[in-house]
Amino acid sequence: MTRILFVTSEVHPLIKTGGLADVSASLPAALQALGEDVRLLIPGYNQVLDALKTKKVVATFSVFTGQAPVRLLSAKMPNTNVPVYVLDAPEYFCRVAGPYQYQLGGDWPDNPMRFGMLSKVAAMLGSADSPIAWQAELVHCNDWQTGLTPVYLQLMSAPRAKSVMTVHNIAFQGNFDRDWIKALEIPAAHFNMHGVEFHGNLSFLKSGLQYADRIVTVSPTYAHEIQATEMGYGMQGLLTARKADVSGILNGIDEDEWDASTDKHLEVRYDVSDLAQKTQGKLALQKRLGLEVNEHAPLLGVVSRLTYQKGLDLLLECLPTLLDSGAQLAVLGSGDAEFERRYLQLAQRYSGRVSVTIGFNEALSHQIMAGTDIFLMPSRFEPCGLNQMYGMRYGTPPVVRRTGGLADSVINASLDGGTGFVFDDAGAQALQQTIKWAIECYRDENTFRRIQLNGMRKDVGWRHSAQLYLELYNSIL
Ligand code: ADP
Ligand code: GLC
Repeated sequence: MTRILFVTSEVHPLIKTGGLADVSASLPAALQALGEDVRLLIPGYNQVLDALKTKKVVATFSVFTGQAPVRLLSAKMPNTNVPVYVLDAPEYFCRVAGPYQYQLGGDWPDNPMRFGMLSKVAAMLGSADSPIAWQAELVHCNDWQTGLTPVYLQLMSAPRAKSVMTVHNIAFQGNFDRDWIKALEIPAAHFNMHGVEFHGNLSFLKSGLQYADRIVTVSPTYAHEIQATEMGYGMQGLLTARKADVSGILNGIDEDEWDASTDKHLEVRYDVSDLAQKTQGKLALQKRLGLEVNEHAPLLGVVSRLTYQKGLDLLLECLPTLLDSGAQLAVLGSGDAEFERRYLQLAQRYSGRVSVTIGFNEALSHQIMAGTDIFLMPSRFEPCGLNQMYGMRYGTPPVVRRTGGLADSVINASLDGGTGFVFDDAGAQALQQTIKWAIECYRDENTFRRIQLNGMRKDVGWRHSAQLYLELYNSIL
């Protein structure tokens, strides 16, 4: 049994902005099911403190010289019972608004201190300096918010844990003014191109990539893609140099949370044996969203951050033609103000045929996944993507671009065992053609049913990938 600390800045159902939260909930649970002693470390945002009813203080200590002491709380994750440590530092984490940004959308100016502190506490828990009786043998870091952990580990007393850095999205790097190294107590000797420095700044992600024992990304294809200029976002040189330590492990999904036959967010539940019920859910969704209630209109779904990454501007370009041919669209998302505005405008123009909900809505995300016919994910890049897997599992075949985890998880409908519709070119025309093809298939009941069933029967759980993580841990311990 290995003692693993999984450090992350978000975890479902306590706090979530994207797929990282889903993975942070489901991968540790899968590792626990394999018999490992895995524990989470997360920041004590107010949402987290409110949601965890039973918690106790297990340590009070100072993280940086001269700072007021922080508390480490211990609790269990709802649903899975995975142990979770909460870094309780109200001055840094108890704020109204998001985990990274204030209400109007700007980043919290002291994010380097907030996540530097999280990173350092993770390193402490993985060393002889641990403030509690438990000491991790392996620290699993996730994204830039935890990127300084491998650096701090080197500064701690032995024995020290090994570290794995999982990159969920290389576009988010946590690059800050170099002056931060003083407050974060990183020795100046580490500030060079083989250390924490990246183009003159302190880079949290680069630090993690430089100092971690192994680097993992969330799909094999993305692991290749980020070693080249186009998708490396400046990290390709370092990743190529560390090639032997880089691998891709495809994310799984929580098959209990995403099960259309038990989903608590659905009015109408269904499974492979009664897909007619899925149609009832579609009618309910059309009604709820103010769309024309019509069983035969192909209903397209989007649940997404509305950003450049997700390629949803391409969709805006080709929608008018698709809508004119009778399709409907249900969008749930939030993100760039310009995208939000353009989608809302579209909904106004095509009232009854397009519904756009701006915001974060867990229940509606499940209802769209279940109630639409075809799910759209035309991402320019996609490290893994979870929604295409939710779509397949819910009998809602996805239209995806062949990139990252989309390429690794969706089998094109032109092939045996096809589960979705795949295109290559990141352009509106290719997207439009592929959606048209998906709609043609939808109109051919037998073909579409086969694609739906292939997806619903596909194994998208964590068993295999959790095993791969375990093998990776063992290879460095
Ligand atoms: P990313 O992490 O890049 O945003 P993923 O596909 O990996 O993309 O994961 C996104 C997760 O966030 C999924 O669980 C998805 O259902 C959820 N999600 C995205 N936008 C919303 C929203 N507006 N409301 C509810 N859930 C959302
Ligand atoms: C990131 C990526 C997404 C991935 C998720 C979980 O947010 O953008 O593709 O699925 O992390 O790993």
